[in-house]
Amino acid sequence: MLSSYPILLAGIVAPLLWTGLLWSFVNVIDPVANTRMDWPWFVVCQIAFGITAGIVVGRSEKIRTLQHLSFALTQWCRGFRYGFRGSRVSRRRLSLLAGAVLTLATLYACDRIPGRPTAASRPVNPSKVTDFAVLYGENCAGCHGANGNFGGALPLNNAVYLTIVDDASMRDAIVNGLAGTSMPAFAINSGGLLTDEQIGIIVSGVRSRWEKNQTVAGAPSYLSEGTGDPIQGAKLFGDYCASCHGIGGTAGTAGAITTPQFLALYSDQALRTLIIAGRPDLSHPGWRDYADKAPLSSAQVSDLVAWLAAKRGS
Ligand code: HEC
Ligand code: HEC
Repeated sequence: MLSSYPILLAGIVAPLLWTGLLWSFVNVIDPVANTRMDWPWFVVCQIAFGITAGIVVGRSEKIRTLQHLSFALTQWCRGFRYGFRGSRVSRRRLSLLAGAVLTLATLYACDRIPGRPTAASRPVNPSKVTDFAVLYGENCAGCHGANGNFGGALPLNNAVYLTIVDDASMRDAIVNGLAGTSMPAFAINSGGLLTDEQIGIIVSGVRSRWEKNQTVAGAPSYLSEGTGDPIQGAKLFGDYCASCHGIGGTAGTAGAITTPQFLALYSDQALRTLIIAGRPDLSHPGWRDYADKAPLSSAQVSDLVAWLAAKRGS
């Protein structure tokens, strides 16, 4: 039954002819495709497919059909035929089924053609990214610095900041953004693109990557414990800040910081965090870095923020 002729034709002759034809043309049609073709693989897939197709054709036999008869007659004949010759029909069906399975398996194997993107090289759906480095690099590094450092905004590797802030506050800043600053909201239901899980990965990633188990004893609390007094704040500014920011914060080596336009970009909390944590990367002192003065207390920080907020006009 197994005729070798169709196998030879479909499994050897046709693939070689087809490959030769394609090989001579593909460089003209698409040189990029040519560089990505793996020809041995291509030939193997063609031959595998051809042999399978050849086996299927070789095993099939010519049968007389009933198509020229009327529908009613056909149905009647079918009933008669299945009734009396069922075993022969089912054997043929079985071999067809085997052929189909083999063809599908070959097609599946050919699906692994080189150049086809693998699962790993396909782009990942942004909401499925769970790697901290990728999440931080794509969403935060632009403002907070590639390594949590030297960004336009507070570096997230700031040791004092990581000591005073709790996870809930850090999470809240990422979920809702910080009104009064350019810190955007990242949670999906606040208009951002990060899932709850991704924000959790960022919070724990910031901690595990940058927190250095050091305790900063006596640091003022992250949140203000009361409303500050702007009059006290003005005095404190003269004592602690004017040496760099000028009297009234209008000049100095470190620049003016009391213009309403400048302060419009700093929320009270952002000012508080900066005054407590400092910015070592910009040589900005933290709460205890004033060599000849006592460290700032939590209430004094509130006073300074109250004075700056009054300059902002809100
Ligand atoms: C468009 C710039 C920008 C991007 C992008 C940005 N931030 Fe911010 N972020 C800011 C600014 C500005 C502040 C507030 C000012 C400051 O503290 O320096 C801030 C503050 C924060 C704070 C609170 C600091 C505090 O004072 O308590 C956290 C936490 C924070 N960002 C985390 C992130 C994370 C995590 C990402 C990425 C998912 C991110 N930020 C992306 C600009 C940005
Ligand atoms: C030793 C000098 C010095 C002292 C003292 C100092 N600052 Fe600064 N301050 C700086 C420098 C440097 C910058 C960064 C300027 C820049 O970004 O170009 C800065 C920036 C700032 C900014 C803007 C933040 C930013 O990210 O650019 C604020 C707000 C500020 N200082 C507040 C204060 C307050 C309030 C005090 C007093 C408690 C103070 N500074 C004391 C040097 C100082």
